[in-house]
Amino acid sequence: MDKLVIEGGTPLRGRVRISGSKNAALPILLACILARGPVRLANVPRLKDIATTLGLLRLLGCEAEQDIAAVTVCVGPDLQAQAPYDLVRTMRASVLCLGPLLARLGKAVVALPGGCAIGSRPVDLHLRGLERMGAKFNLEAGNIIGQCKRLKGAHIHFDFPTVGGTENLLMAASLAQGETILENAAREPEVVNLADFLNACGANISGQGTSIIRVQGVDELSGVDFQVMADRIEAGTYMVAAVITDGELYLEGCSITDLDAVVYKLREMGVWIQEGKSGVLARRGTKLVGVDVMTQPFPGFPTDMQAQIMALMGLAQGSGVIKETIFENRFMHVQELVRMGAQIKLSGQNAMVRGADHYVGAPVMASDLRASASLVLAGLAAKGTTEVRRIYHLDRGYEDLEAKLTNVGARIRREEQ
Ligand code: EPZ
Repeated sequence: MDKLVIEGGTPLRGRVRISGSKNAALPILLACILARGPVRLANVPRLKDIATTLGLLRLLGCEAEQDIAAVTVCVGPDLQAQAPYDLVRTMRASVLCLGPLLARLGKAVVALPGGCAIGSRPVDLHLRGLERMGAKFNLEAGNIIGQCKRLKGAHIHFDFPTVGGTENLLMAASLAQGETILENAAREPEVVNLADFLNACGANISGQGTSIIRVQGVDELSGVDFQVMADRIEAGTYMVAAVITDGELYLEGCSITDLDAVVYKLREMGVWIQEGKSGVLARRGTKLVGVDVMTQPFPGFPTDMQAQIMALMGLAQGSGVIKETIFENRFMHVQELVRMGAQIKLSGQNAMVRGADHYVGAPVMASDLRASASLVLAGLAAKGTTEVRRIYHLDRGYEDLEAKLTNVGARIRREEQ
């Protein structure tokens, strides 16, 4: 397993190109199963999870390739219905092939995704919604076995605005017979990007971005050329990198539109953020002060930025409370930050963060994608050397991380462990 070795203390200055969004690209890639012709996707990041998804598409009988410019996907003549456990266990988002396979084939065999470091991650809301549309499910030897005739439009109300559940049902409803209404739907920009992709293929979706989405099912969808949105969480992560190192970064190819809650909180802390024509400028303002943060479904503060803003708050003046309301175990980075000198106390879903004067570099362990990012951020600011281990977590969601950071002055290198 590789590790990252970071010599902290250098202010980062320069321009960072923000990559395409992992969490938009993953559902869009699986939505290609619905299209009868070739799909060409631009701005797909080169990440482990993308490679895993392309592997899954090939396993299902699709051609799926990624070159420098784009990803191309084309469903073959004998589409398969089985997503095996060995693949699903490495990437939970594979469960997003359920909706497309049921819509296209009337059959799906998908390994029930296990939990992960941040929580149990059930998929009950996905299955209940698909059952409302006529699918029948059995659980056999750890596999979800789904079958249906042609899915029928239904009126579905989610107990929770689940991102993946909304995405699975959007894809299923696109080819269902009749109208589907999704109430209490997720409003995340990645869901909007998926709906826009499906409409570009010929679907009839409206209301995406609001909590009520309507889908008029159509008989078939065609291939299309489409550009994946920028990764707002990567952009937010680099905003924090600029501020935590007391530098200044211009983030190209992103906008603050999809990061309002994050920009609001960072500005409340004293961060200076300005949107330009083709990107966003971020740097520390006068002084950093601690604030209170509560993660919520979009448009609230995104849980995927919780670990990163915690690393920053650990160096702010005063204190603040971070409440994690989305996942039951998303504080795995806390004890590692404490090893670097952060003053954080946990109480249930609350983390009380009191600003420290500085971090001290130390060997730390990554546990999940965003926790790893927060440890890298702390290492960039720390006095001395930080070693972040198990960085395969990072490779899942941050494209060219070392190169992007090195280009703006970071002293960071990857070493075999
Ligand atoms: C997506 O996960 C993202 N992943 C996550 O990003 C993100 O943290 C999450 O949405 C919330 O924004 C991708 O898009 C690939 P959910 P997802 O369904 O779809 C519960 C990252 O770091 N729930 O909105 O799994 C669930 O347990 C990753 O990039 C049910 O109870 O999120 C969780 O507590 C991490 N039953 C909450 O809802 C269900 O059927 C949010 O889950 C579904 C979800």
